[in-house]
Amino acid sequence: MAHTEKDHIKVSAQLESEIDGLISHYPQKRSASLMILHRLQEEFGYLSQPAIEWTAMKLELQPINIYELVTFYPMFREHPVGKTVVRVCRTLSCALGGSHQLHSHLCRKLGLNPADKGPQNTPDGKFTIEFAECLASCGTPPVVMCNDDFYDNVSTDQADKLIKKYNQP
Ligand code: FES
Repeated sequence: MAHTEKDHIKVSAQLESEIDGLISHYPQKRSASLMILHRLQEEFGYLSQPAIEWTAMKLELQPINIYELVTFYPMFREHPVGKTVVRVCRTLSCALGGSHQLHSHLCRKLGLNPADKGPQNTPDGKFTIEFAECLASCGTPPVVMCNDDFYDNVSTDQADKLIKKYNQP
């Protein structure tokens, strides 16, 4: 298959030397896998197939060794996300506290499909909405995270305010 622009990642010289530094801290190169994946995800927003291959190449491993990590750990993403990732807890206490209705409300507000339970991105790239498992505040449902910011007891009114707040250019 012909390679396209999308088949490559552009790792800057500065990032590569930072990653080389990380690798040098470990007696075995492969021990740096998770650190590198975190760093690449921070840089690119997600871990594409080329990013996985690049990591494998740096660590002298097979891409499957890295791919297994990416699919095993829920914090890693294989697809691009919006600028703000809205995570709605769907575990029991939040489900009973209205998180599914809240998810539907948010989807409607953002022009997304309320019936789609997987991650969805708005076409403008501003938001991703998805369900999450317990966000560790079960006494104050429903709980939502917007990137690293935490919100509990989220009403539909508050959800509207959150969308306004994070709807940045
Ligand atoms: S069930 Fe939602 S935070 Fe625990």
